Amino acid sequence: MSDKKTPLSAPARQGEIYIKGMMGAQPIVPFDPVQLEAKAKEKMNPKAGGYIIGGAGTDDTIRENTNAFAKHRIYPRMLRDVSVRDTSTELFGVTMPSPILTCPIGVLEMIDDEADKAVGKATSKLGIPMIMSNQASYPMEEIVAGMGDGPRWFQLYWSKSNDLVKSLVQRAEQCGCSAIAVTLDTTILGWRVQDLDLMHLPFLSGQGIAQYTSDPVFKHIVKTMDFGDDALQVPGVDPEVFDAVKTFTGVYSRPSITWEDLAFLRSVTKLPIVLKGILHPEDGKLAVKYGVDGIIVSNHGGRQVDGAIAAIDALPKVVEAVRGAGSDMPILMDSGIRTGADIFKALALGAQAVCVGRPYAYGLALAGQEGVEEVLANLMSEFEFTMALAGCKNLGEIGKDNIISH
Ligand code: FNR
Ligand code: LAC
Repeated sequence: MSDKKTPLSAPARQGEIYIKGMMGAQPIVPFDPVQLEAKAKEKMNPKAGGYIIGGAGTDDTIRENTNAFAKHRIYPRMLRDVSVRDTSTELFGVTMPSPILTCPIGVLEMIDDEADKAVGKATSKLGIPMIMSNQASYPMEEIVAGMGDGPRWFQLYWSKSNDLVKSLVQRAEQCGCSAIAVTLDTTILGWRVQDLDLMHLPFLSGQGIAQYTSDPVFKHIVKTMDFGDDALQVPGVDPEVFDAVKTFTGVYSRPSITWEDLAFLRSVTKLPIVLKGILHPEDGKLAVKYGVDGIIVSNHGGRQVDGAIAAIDALPKVVEAVRGAGSDMPILMDSGIRTGADIFKALALGAQAVCVGRPYAYGLALAGQEGVEEVLANLMSEFEFTMALAGCKNLGEIGKDNIISH
């Protein structure tokens, strides 16, 4: 691996932080995850705060996602040589320095002008794979232009137009993506009370639809769409932009997709297909049956089904079901990852890697690209500390023996 991808070992980084403090430096972002969210919230305007921090309904699932980690306790072991540690792992042929990817997060332009481009530069610097969102603020080609050979995946929303699906996936291949994560839990947007109270949805003013407006198939659909003479226009929104918005709301996603449709996706790409949004063990078994290449256990950060099971609680049964069905496909997890301990617990419960979501968006809101780097580097460091102090020197040593759930 090149130097830029070899982060400082966690104790060395910790030492550097204290020395910088003696020289008068202040943290770039708070280390405490609760403070991180609080500070980012102060910086965001109410609409950005509502969309990014908020979730479905009463935010019950958001709270549960983080609270549930407390039921799973790490069981540290002593007198094991952890002087040489390795947190690296591999997914779909790509080596990663830590079992961390970034979640796809749409509409980052609400909190930073450079949005996904800043995230791509930050993840590439660290060697962390970025999952580019289908609702990104920049076209994927522009995001990867600043990423060098940094690893990247593309997250797909299954459009009502299969031609558009095919076009997006082919663009992702051209952009050097190593996997397609198809998100299953958001075929319609959840009942987002904070957005509803503000009566605001960013897509309707043309935010977060850059993957569409840059797509040749989408452009063709806009051109051929008949909006009618008395079609709705909104004061302050460019009519041309609004035509794209109306087309987007028309084609965005297809609630009718079923397991059988996966064959179409398989027919248009050779890339590994990873299902994002699996929670039920039976769906884990179906994922094996339908021959996908991986899954992400996720409840979309509590943005879809208020009252849904916490992702960390869903994980063990999904792992059991998938392994019981004879598959060794990678199982990832997101929704509620806030600390290195959370990452360790997810791995001990059977995940190969985790995806980090809101925390990196908070870093972006507070300090742009540098803020994203800092949040991710802090998580990498804290994970390395947790792993070592629990008595494991590499990911292979983390397992059921390291965790007790009650
Ligand atoms: C998301 N998420 C998401 N997922 C996805 O597949 N495509 C997307 O475009 C988005 N957009 C998005 C926007 C915002 C503001 C958030 C907070 C989340 C869900 C995301 O990938 C992930 O599942 C959650 O963020 C995980 O929850 P936590 O850990 O961030 O709370
Ligand atoms: C969201 C969609 C974009 O959660 O995934 O807002």
